[in-house]
Amino acid sequence: MSLPNIVSKEQIQNQYTYIDGVAELIRGKQLRAYTHTFGCQQNEADTERIRGMLHEMGYEMTDSAEDADFILFNTCAVREHAEERAFGNIGALSHLKKRRPDLIIALCGCMAQQDKNVQKIKKSYPQVTLLFGTHALWRFPSLLYRTMTEKKRIFDIGGDENGEIAEGLPVMRENGAKAWLSIMYGCNNFCTYCIVPYVRGRERSRRPEEIESELRDLISAGYKDITLLGQNVNSYGKDLELDIDFADLLRRLNAVEGDFLIRFMTSHPKDAGPRLFDAMADCSKVAKQLHLPFQSGSDEILERMNRRYTAADYRKLITYARGKMPNLTLSSDIIVGFPGETEADFQQTLALVQEIQFDLLFTFLYSKRSGTPAAEYEDNATPAEKQNRFERLLRAQDEIVAKRQDAYQGKCMRLLVDGGARGTEYPYTARTEGNLLVCVRGDDIRIGTFIEAEIEKTSLRCLFARKR
Ligand code: 5AD
Ligand code: SF4
Repeated sequence: MSLPNIVSKEQIQNQYTYIDGVAELIRGKQLRAYTHTFGCQQNEADTERIRGMLHEMGYEMTDSAEDADFILFNTCAVREHAEERAFGNIGALSHLKKRRPDLIIALCGCMAQQDKNVQKIKKSYPQVTLLFGTHALWRFPSLLYRTMTEKKRIFDIGGDENGEIAEGLPVMRENGAKAWLSIMYGCNNFCTYCIVPYVRGRERSRRPEEIESELRDLISAGYKDITLLGQNVNSYGKDLELDIDFADLLRRLNAVEGDFLIRFMTSHPKDAGPRLFDAMADCSKVAKQLHLPFQSGSDEILERMNRRYTAADYRKLITYARGKMPNLTLSSDIIVGFPGETEADFQQTLALVQEIQFDLLFTFLYSKRSGTPAAEYEDNATPAEKQNRFERLLRAQDEIVAKRQDAYQGKCMRLLVDGGARGTEYPYTARTEGNLLVCVRGDDIRIGTFIEAEIEKTSLRCLFARKR
């Protein structure tokens, strides 16, 4: 076991010196920063860190790239589509850069950690003046300072390729009820389709006292809906010298005083089990919500995905979890069209979906990622066949959701109001404990509070409720 590599206090302090340095350079100029995030919640949490640093430097945040003096794209490499969108967005900025040569356009995130993309940006996207990978995120202040003072393009994808943990940097979160709380970084699983382990390094866990202290700060600041983040939260603690696992962490955080909900994502079926589900059931502040991606219902495909469980294992897990938590809200990820997937394999995925009856599914068409093992696998199904499977899966799930939504009709539920107000009949948005979206109406509704509400009607994507 090797302990996670922690960025030293001196190095963090040094970054604060650069924050002051940039602040000095832009003082009195009233500069504005715009950020755009692609991809997952981990990326959103990373962007909040960068916004925190920008805020400390004295930047105002803006929602318009046209108005901004600093533009950042935090990118995702999980599927080709996300990459294409990022390149498209950056391409569209060349006119802004021509008009305003002082504009700084920065690119970070998973795409920026890959050499092939770095070369492409170097060569064909001269408007990008700063690029840094996931391992260099904590060095953003020094990189921005260099971009400003050295007047040249700065590229930094270096750092410990296993990844590090940087504590004590600023963060600027969205206002409202929800907050992300990273508990670990990286992934060790190497599912054969997935690029994440190559761009985010090895699993490394933050220390429990750091996590608890951040949770306490969030609760004091009024956040009520906290999602613990990690690529595979179920392996939390394996890399620490402490005797703690994810179930223990949940119990520890549940003991923090206050009225709030804890969620977590993402879980891996090979590491989730009774210890976790018992802890969830025991802890009143842990939402009875589980996102447990199964990816495919075919054991052969699961094996070639290197997922290390079978469909039967998955069924057993769900039976146990639902036995402990009858109202559990359950969601999953599925990949359709993995190389070699036959119609018979797909039928097994469909059967599992029909059997388990998920509340929510995230379905993806397989996207080839160069550098991953699956990119070399033989792939015989045509795009049309894959698309057809994908659509059948969506239709099957829509039918399931319609039935599940009907069952909510007339029910009274505790909701957390998290957004609004939009001048419609149901002006506020809220979430059930299971994180289902609800549009709400009624008197005296305030964002960030828990309310009791009765479900009046439903649609495929949303429940509609009146506050009691
Ligand atoms: N193609 C399609 N979907 C993918 N995912 C990860 N890699 C790929 C890929 N190459 C999906 C998985 C994962 C989710 C976050 O993204 O379903 O659980
Ligand atoms: Fe990718 Fe698998 Fe790790 Fe999830 S668990 S990030 S799918 S390698």
